[in-house]
Amino acid sequence: MYRTKTCGELRRANVGETVTLCGWVDSARDHSGVFFVNLRDRYGKTQTVFDAAADPALFELVKTLRNEDVAQITGEVLARPDGLVNPDMSTGEIEIKATKLVVLNRSAVLPFLPSAPEVPSEEMRLKYRYLDLRRAEMQRALTLRHRITKTLRDYFDENGFLEIETPVLGKSTPEGARDYLVPSRVTQGAFYALPQSPQLYKQLLMIAGYDRYVQVARCFRDEDLRADRQPEFTQLDVEMSFVEMEDIIDVISKLVQRLMKEIKGVDIPLPLPRITYDEAMERFGHDAPDLRYGMELKDITEISKTVDFKVFRSVADNGGRVRGINVKNAADKFSRKDIDGLISWTGEQFGAKGLVWFKVDAESKLTGSSAKNFTPEALQAIGEKLEAGPNDLLLFSCGDFNLTCRTLNGLRRRLAAQLKLYDPEEMNFCWVVKFPMFDWDEEENRWVAMHHPFTAPLVEDLPKLEGSAEDIRAIRAQAYDLVLNGFEAGGGTIRIHDSEIQNKVFNLLGMTREQAKEQFGFLVDALQYGAPPHGGLALGLDRVVMLFAGIDNIRDCIAFPKTTKASDLMTGAPSEVASKQLEELAIKTMIPKPEQ
Ligand code: AMO
Repeated sequence: MYRTKTCGELRRANVGETVTLCGWVDSARDHSGVFFVNLRDRYGKTQTVFDAAADPALFELVKTLRNEDVAQITGEVLARPDGLVNPDMSTGEIEIKATKLVVLNRSAVLPFLPSAPEVPSEEMRLKYRYLDLRRAEMQRALTLRHRITKTLRDYFDENGFLEIETPVLGKSTPEGARDYLVPSRVTQGAFYALPQSPQLYKQLLMIAGYDRYVQVARCFRDEDLRADRQPEFTQLDVEMSFVEMEDIIDVISKLVQRLMKEIKGVDIPLPLPRITYDEAMERFGHDAPDLRYGMELKDITEISKTVDFKVFRSVADNGGRVRGINVKNAADKFSRKDIDGLISWTGEQFGAKGLVWFKVDAESKLTGSSAKNFTPEALQAIGEKLEAGPNDLLLFSCGDFNLTCRTLNGLRRRLAAQLKLYDPEEMNFCWVVKFPMFDWDEEENRWVAMHHPFTAPLVEDLPKLEGSAEDIRAIRAQAYDLVLNGFEAGGGTIRIHDSEIQNKVFNLLGMTREQAKEQFGFLVDALQYGAPPHGGLALGLDRVVMLFAGIDNIRDCIAFPKTTKASDLMTGAPSEVASKQLEELAIKTMIPKPEQ
């Protein structure tokens, strides 16, 4: 047996026991005649002490230990004297008086020390991920990930769900991102697509009668990456039969309650707050609003129709919107230069053509370089609309609705973080419901499905399927997103199971049944053979872990993540392959080989 205890286990109650520990050398310090080695494993650290006088040969050996060597240490557990107890270590009450040391392996000189307080650059961390994973933060994140996954699985098991695996080599699903393709050797020229989600398969499982399905599923999407996106990620994927939207929301809300209790030790009341898509866009400019703080968007389009200020007036008169936010009590925190910085940032990030701003003086009057363009009455009306008070900073964006949404949502999030307007420990959940069903694609000049073409419209909106463009734009879907602290943690829909409605939706999307079959394959067929009413949802597991861990980068809760360029710095993937492999697949690349 290599070890009798782990490095995080020993307490005062173990004093007097002889134990053997194994682990990595976290630190090694020579204190003239006494040598301290902190041994580390994923459970914690334990201090071991070697005494030159007690065993000179052992002392010579321990002096050769270097950071990250792997060692086995045997000794007696001693209580540390009162003044020397280390409250920062779980094992801080004891130390081991070492009597034996076996060096199990030596480490080469390391690119960085996992035990060092400073965090290495992300490039180094990803290149030497196995060393990075030895760091306490990473151990905590992966342990949390395990606990969350276990809680999810337990919950669904207790509620009668079956976990069923679905293929990774499949046919393209209608999810909207680019597919990762895998060439077939057997059928040359043909490709599998890695699943963007198990969407088609889980619907097939409903048709097959497995009315409560769950899967911790790997998903692959070739899309532009951000801090909360990975090309390969994990979903907690759910589908249920004989359910309505309320049933799914209920099952997932109770799951959220369970997670909060088991992971955070906090009781949260149900139902979770709910907001419609339209309201979210009006009040927050985003369909995943962060409700931990105010700074809501206020509309001054009507007031703008009465002012001489051309920038506002022409937008308001031409169907655009003029909206703003009130950054409370912050006017003195933003210099002219700071505001110019915000203006150029919103230009670069969101294509905003500018921001109009006012500072509110001690008499609650709006001031600033734009103020001269407005009458005192207009300024007062604007101030009232934004509930302006002394020292507030008001920022306005104008243009089409989406531009004002993007710009003000971006500002709202940035300023709330900068001004610390929320408690980073808070976990704020809400449901966003009643999403639009269709979006008009200007480039392709046609309607496209906001979710996927199997999403059911709200029953009360069904007649609008045959209506005008205005009606179609107003159709809302039986779609719902779970939002946590301003991130989309999950999303789902009730699916269409009625072929008549399905055909109408295909028609609207400009697709014949045959084209739909070509694109969505066997699901269209299968839906004819007794499909039960069904619907589901998928949680982004990586995102949920990220938010429960209170970190802001999805890579920090994935053992082996990809960079924002979708590459793996440790393995070098993606990489070129041998020409023989390409020949077998009948593939020729168009990239010229670099000159040697
Ligand atoms: P959707 O595309 O909304 O729905 O995905 C569900 C959830 O998965 C997470 N997610 C991601 N996480 C990390 N990296 C990514 N690239 C990424 N993309 C999505 C998000 C998101 O809310 N089949 C449907 C679900 C359904 O209708 O049942 C689907 O995949 O947290």
